[in-house]
Amino acid sequence: MSARTLGVCYYPEHWPRTVWQQDAQRMAEAGLTWVRIGEFAWSRLEPSQGDYRFEWLDEAIEVLGNAGLRVVLGTPTATPPRWIVDKHPDMLARDAQGHPRGFGSRRHYCFSHEGYKAEAVRITRKLAQRYGKNPHVAAWQTDNEYGCHATTISYSDAARSAFQGWLRARYGGDGNAGDIGALNAAWGNVFWSMEYDDFDQIDLPNLTVTEPNPAHSLAFRRFSSDQVVAFNRAQVDIIRTHSDAPIAHNYMGKITDFDHFAVGADLDIASWDAYPLGFLDESTSFDLAHKEKFSRQGDPDFQAFHHDLYRAVGQAGTAGGRWWVMEQQPGPVNWAPHNPAPLDGMVRLWTWEAFAHGAEAVCYFRWRQAPFAQEQMHAGLLRPDSADAAGMVEARAVAAELREAPAVAPVQSPVALMFDYDADFAWKVQPHGHGLSYFELVFATYRALRSLGLSVDIVPPNLRDFTGYAVLLMPGVMHVPDTLKHAVNAAQIPVVLGPRTAARDSEMSIPVPLPPAWDGLDMTVTAVESLAPGTPVPLPAGGAFTGYRERVETCAEVVETCADGWPAWVRDGHLSYLTGWGDAPALQRILGLICAQAGLETAALPDGVRRRDTGHERFWFNYDTVAHEVAGSVLPPISVTRAAL
Ligand code: GAL
Repeated sequence: MSARTLGVCYYPEHWPRTVWQQDAQRMAEAGLTWVRIGEFAWSRLEPSQGDYRFEWLDEAIEVLGNAGLRVVLGTPTATPPRWIVDKHPDMLARDAQGHPRGFGSRRHYCFSHEGYKAEAVRITRKLAQRYGKNPHVAAWQTDNEYGCHATTISYSDAARSAFQGWLRARYGGDGNAGDIGALNAAWGNVFWSMEYDDFDQIDLPNLTVTEPNPAHSLAFRRFSSDQVVAFNRAQVDIIRTHSDAPIAHNYMGKITDFDHFAVGADLDIASWDAYPLGFLDESTSFDLAHKEKFSRQGDPDFQAFHHDLYRAVGQAGTAGGRWWVMEQQPGPVNWAPHNPAPLDGMVRLWTWEAFAHGAEAVCYFRWRQAPFAQEQMHAGLLRPDSADAAGMVEARAVAAELREAPAVAPVQSPVALMFDYDADFAWKVQPHGHGLSYFELVFATYRALRSLGLSVDIVPPNLRDFTGYAVLLMPGVMHVPDTLKHAVNAAQIPVVLGPRTAARDSEMSIPVPLPPAWDGLDMTVTAVESLAPGTPVPLPAGGAFTGYRERVETCAEVVETCADGWPAWVRDGHLSYLTGWGDAPALQRILGLICAQAGLETAALPDGVRRRDTGHERFWFNYDTVAHEVAGSVLPPISVTRAAL
């Protein structure tokens, strides 16, 4: 059981040196442990090429450290200063229309630009050399929110030539020369006479007349993900040679354009940035009534989903399971279509929810609201005039509670839900229906499980040992390698597949024999259809399939049939297959039956009430503005309740 701690994101370069001391003391007095700094400060660290100015950062670290705070030092590579862009004008990422994504905000770089990568490596080395052994620098953060603002994918010239090299290596015949015939065959380029004679002819999959070959698009997404992994690894390798402090990256919620497990494998700590109200307001998948009900609380499952996801990303890392919330919303944000203030008690609730899911640390973004520039409307723990803002009161309250409260004991959850970034890429390339998304399918499944009161582990697609799990769900995992099919079969636990599980081969073609071609599951998907809004297919037992479904032939047990006679739920031994995208009532009902049959204790929780079991305790979270009575306990509005198990 490790200690749970709080922290804050701080920008000493935004404030006169005269206030650093007082700020540091106030942070320590508030009960904060961590202070993250530096991640956007490049123009002050190196105002022109080779003109390094580290004295101010030396002093800031000294002041913060002397106040008893532990520093997380960020590499500033998300904000290359203007002179670097002038030096490498072609380092800017390009959008799908080919337009440069220009200087004047942040993340204005292409991951494939070798010149920029060298600059990023250089500044990282300087920082690692200078602060690698600094006793106050207790952790590192690489860059900031890879992929945020749609920046994983770039259609630049640098990306094009790197992509060609990546393809040569992947369709390698004889090493790096590449075998263009192998690529043509794998992608099915005979279709529409798309065959290539040479890798140099392969453009990026933008600016085509109609949609590009999905195999081409999927390859480009995989390549783009690998570029993020390589960019991050270049920094990690340098930091490790100079420092023993753990290395983190702060992923942004709902950004799925690169494989976080692959980036995470190089890191010691996974962390993510939690903005519950911004995420809810920005989302197009929640209905209006839900948005209205939770506009000041956030969606009751969205944060938990990411906590469970990043716990898994942390498990992929070198330290095996460390994860944090690196940025926690403390008040209104500035970037969603609407930016309400959280209800009193929500900052505390969000913080405790992260701890209940296993977070080691929760850091609030940011210390003092900046009265200038893009985020002047974004709350901090302090107002621009340095008085306490509302979030500060709750941060202090949590800090006090942490001193008294028992530690949270992590424990394996009974339910495993697979999340596969590669499947997300495949769904994006070929959703087959407007708005259909892998993330939303997995999230809908997660929500149904949580509405049943279940604690969930999100698991990566390379997991092969399912020991300890009572149920495994893997909806929508488009390509399932044989090794995974074998491991799932060997586990012999109830498994929920479909829709669209094992629907494509590794190159994005429909496999023959037809999907899911799964030993032990006597069932074949013979046709698929997507459903327009307002055309659900009812399930007589309750709920409906919406958006997407499959027609199957089977000699196995048909547990449920759609109103129009197509099989809806097929079961063969421990394997269940759902042939469509269930709406909330359908998923809750069917998954409730499967989990209850697996011996799990389920409960139909009220909207807004969620529970999470840890090693010794049951946490209840009430996101609702009214009290609820559940299992004999009264849960007050906007509350956290802990009970010994
Ligand atoms: C995050 C970002 C921070 C800040 C914050 C505002 O996405 O990492 O730098 O911009 O959003 O909510």
